[in-house]
Amino acid sequence: MTQPDKAAQYAQAARDIRAVLDGEPDRTARMATVASMLTQAFEHYFWAGFYVVDPERPGELVVGPYQGTLGCLRITFGRGVCGTAAAEKQTVIVEDVHAFDGHIACDSRSNSEIVVPVLDGAGELIAVFDVDSTEFAAFDEADRAGLEGIMTEIFGG
Ligand code: SME
Repeated sequence: MTQPDKAAQYAQAARDIRAVLDGEPDRTARMATVASMLTQAFEHYFWAGFYVVDPERPGELVVGPYQGTLGCLRITFGRGVCGTAAAEKQTVIVEDVHAFDGHIACDSRSNSEIVVPVLDGAGELIAVFDVDSTEFAAFDEADRAGLEGIMTEIFGG
């Protein structure tokens, strides 16, 4: 798949998600819809979902709505790809998860990964969105731009 195709697919997915979520304020409903619709839209997605900042346990992420095989339940800030993205509030793209120091293997079929921070309207971290692929180097700048745009639009308002 070429870059422009991916960018166009993200733009279409963003329009579809926006239409479905129009008027729906519930955060869990919004996260579940985003995880489902993106997984259906992209063949390179194997596992996709949210790890939510736990208000009861500072510095910990707890699994939220996701699509795919069983994910681990909790991730400490700074651990693995998700914990790194949460601690730094930055998107992390990993071409080969087996070479990433501290990677948390939930499903051995995952070979590459992107994790995008999810911020609310005040710029506070509320979650990270994690996508795994069975292909190596499946995620690139088009995924980063597409996912960061969708997260900002759907959760940053
Ligand atoms: N691989 C992730 C853990 C979450 S699962 O892949 C669903 C990580 O290292 O953060």
